[in-house]
Amino acid sequence: MMKKAQLCATDMNIESIGVLGAGQMGNGITQVAACAGYNVVMIDIKQEYIERGMNSIEKSLAKLVSKERMTQEDADASLARISTAISRQAAADVDLVIEAIPEIPDLKFSTFAELDEICKPSTILASNTSSISIDAIASHTKRPSQVIGMHFMNPVPIMKLVEIINGSSTSKEVNSAVVEASAKMGKTALSCNDSPGFVSNRILCPMLNEAILTLQEGVAEPEAIDGIMMLGMNHPIGPLALCDLIGLDTILHIMNVLYEGLGEEKYAPCDLLKEMVSRGDLGRKSGKGFYTY
Ligand SMILES: NC(=O)c1ccc[n+]([C@@H]2O[C@H](COP(=O)([O-])OP(=O)(O)OC[C@H]3O[C@@H](n4cnc5c(N)ncnc54)[C@H](O)[C@@H]3O)[C@@H](O)[C@H]2O)c1
Repeated sequence: MMKKAQLCATDMNIESIGVLGAGQMGNGITQVAACAGYNVVMIDIKQEYIERGMNSIEKSLAKLVSKERMTQEDADASLARISTAISRQAAADVDLVIEAIPEIPDLKFSTFAELDEICKPSTILASNTSSISIDAIASHTKRPSQVIGMHFMNPVPIMKLVEIINGSSTSKEVNSAVVEASAKMGKTALSCNDSPGFVSNRILCPMLNEAILTLQEGVAEPEAIDGIMMLGMNHPIGPLALCDLIGLDTILHIMNVLYEGLGEEKYAPCDLLKEMVSRGDLGRKSGKGFYTY
């Protein structure tokens, strides 16, 4: 058997990808990877979740075909490159795993420990986490140099960025391999170091929290807050509408990561955000947030 340590650049050729999780992010990542020519196995825990994920990919590809942004032949060929499984053993021989399971630290940690046992020694293990430390995830494997963050944006087929997060042990070769794979998927990959909230959420979430605080203090109504930021700052969506899209529970979780990780009062989640989450007003997914759906 090949030794685990010291993989060289030639071992990093990515031809096959395993995507863990067929949810919102996982099925989007599966789609863009298959369209880029990779053979992809999409893995979830139940067949019904797989079917829901495949449905969403089929709909998305059909839309691209109807808008003449893709031919029917290319859509069919992309679908043919996707296989599915409900056992994580199906990731044993892939070159790159992209994990997109729920944002629960212990679930990510145990899953990476399991992937480390299952996958061949050369497999790169990437996480699509929004906020969990890559070093913390990597510490649950025996291959920390091959663990990296690949933070795709939502909706994956549309958004151009993949934020690449290097852990303190991630090797240069692994970084280059995932930057190259992201480019092949039509994305621009920009790298940063492991730090609470990385770059995207460290900057975005305090702004969203501030918008909620502005509402909490009665400075303006939601429509005015969103309108001011859209018309005045050229934002495509207002901050409160964006909170509803992302999910208020997710925003609260990320604010807590920033507050605990960076230890500064300015990152404290505001009271209205905490109250809305405890009431179950989570945004679009619960039908009610700052707006009603
Ligand atoms: N939703 C967003 O806007 C967004 C954006 C960027 C990053 N992320 C991150 O992406 C990840 C996934 O988020 P999502 O919104 O796609 O969640 P989701 O709930 O839509 O999907 C998660 C899927 O993972 C499956 N799953 C759970 N445990 C599993 C396991 N052990 N093995 C395989 N599959 C398993 C679930 O059944 C579910 O289908 C999270 O870490 C999240 O923080 C989300």
